[in-house]
Amino acid sequence: MAEPNFLLQDIWYFALPGQELKPGTMRAKSLLDQPVLLGRTAAGEVFALRDICPHRGIPLSCGRFDGREVECRYHGWRFDQGGTCTAIPSLVAEQQMDVSRIKVRRYPVREVQGNVWIWMGEGEPAMEPPRVPHFADGRGANMVLSMEFPCFQDHAVIGLMDPAHGPYVHKSWFWRSERTMHEKAKAFGPAPFGFVMKRHRPSSNSAAYKILGGAPETEIRFQLPGIRIEHIQVGRHHVCNLTTVTPLGPMATEVTNQMYWTMGWASAAKPLLRPFAAKFLRQDRDVVVMQQQGLRHDPSLMLIKDADTQARWYYQLKNEWVRAREEGREFRNPVKDVTLRWRS
Ligand code: FES
Ligand SMILES: [Fe+2]
Repeated sequence: MAEPNFLLQDIWYFALPGQELKPGTMRAKSLLDQPVLLGRTAAGEVFALRDICPHRGIPLSCGRFDGREVECRYHGWRFDQGGTCTAIPSLVAEQQMDVSRIKVRRYPVREVQGNVWIWMGEGEPAMEPPRVPHFADGRGANMVLSMEFPCFQDHAVIGLMDPAHGPYVHKSWFWRSERTMHEKAKAFGPAPFGFVMKRHRPSSNSAAYKILGGAPETEIRFQLPGIRIEHIQVGRHHVCNLTTVTPLGPMATEVTNQMYWTMGWASAAKPLLRPFAAKFLRQDRDVVVMQQQGLRHDPSLMLIKDADTQARWYYQLKNEWVRAREEGREFRNPVKDVTLRWRS
């Protein structure tokens, strides 16, 4: 089943954790193969501009930022956080020119739950960025892990939602192995711009869940363009795992995993948790790196029932996103309520 490689437009992408942008600083980042300048004003507001000076094309990120305006490295033109030109130093008094008519493209951004989201598209956002449940907007994640996968976005997304790779890719004493494989049946249904694995008791062979104590209940949501939100509830406590897949370029995809938790002891255990979480993510990355060796030859691929049904939905959702926009109509979720079965 060959799928053309395309990226969705007019949708929120995770840009970076807000803590990586200190007040008065800026940072260059490629997003969807577009050069983007991300900055935070001295007053704390985050903004994003196309990282190309409209005068002679040098990246604006090569210049200076005083916490209010970006000054181009080449001829010192200045731009405010909205991308409007405020000064052209070379103009003499008689050279009347309305500099404010010169604009750099501005990308809408929002900062929620410690994360900067960027609207990659034309016009203003038509929706709110994704949020994890049960945590306030002003509250950031307790643990952030980020890794670059050298592949097209789809392979990173599918790799993360794939239920059958666990016993092979994440084989380790603390997680699971082939020996503990058993049949699973999970109820799924449509969710906004995606699907949900409905609230359930997680499988008994996941030792990591046992660490939490009690009988946890889990719900996992996926939504376009590549957002996975796992919500685990144990008694009065909540753990959310936010995984975002952001295409940097055609063959570079950033996978960021963030954990939010309400238990105080988990923060104390962070130095222990971190290496495990990093190992887990690295295992996903390693297998994608190996996969690239085969994909270079452009083989035809398969998606089988039911283990690859979520991957099929992902492609259907992507296609529907594009079609709905082309036809100027509401998004119609192609996912139906169903129980999927597989062994893992
Ligand atoms: S290239 Fe930026 S001011 Fe000239
Ligand atoms: Fe995985």
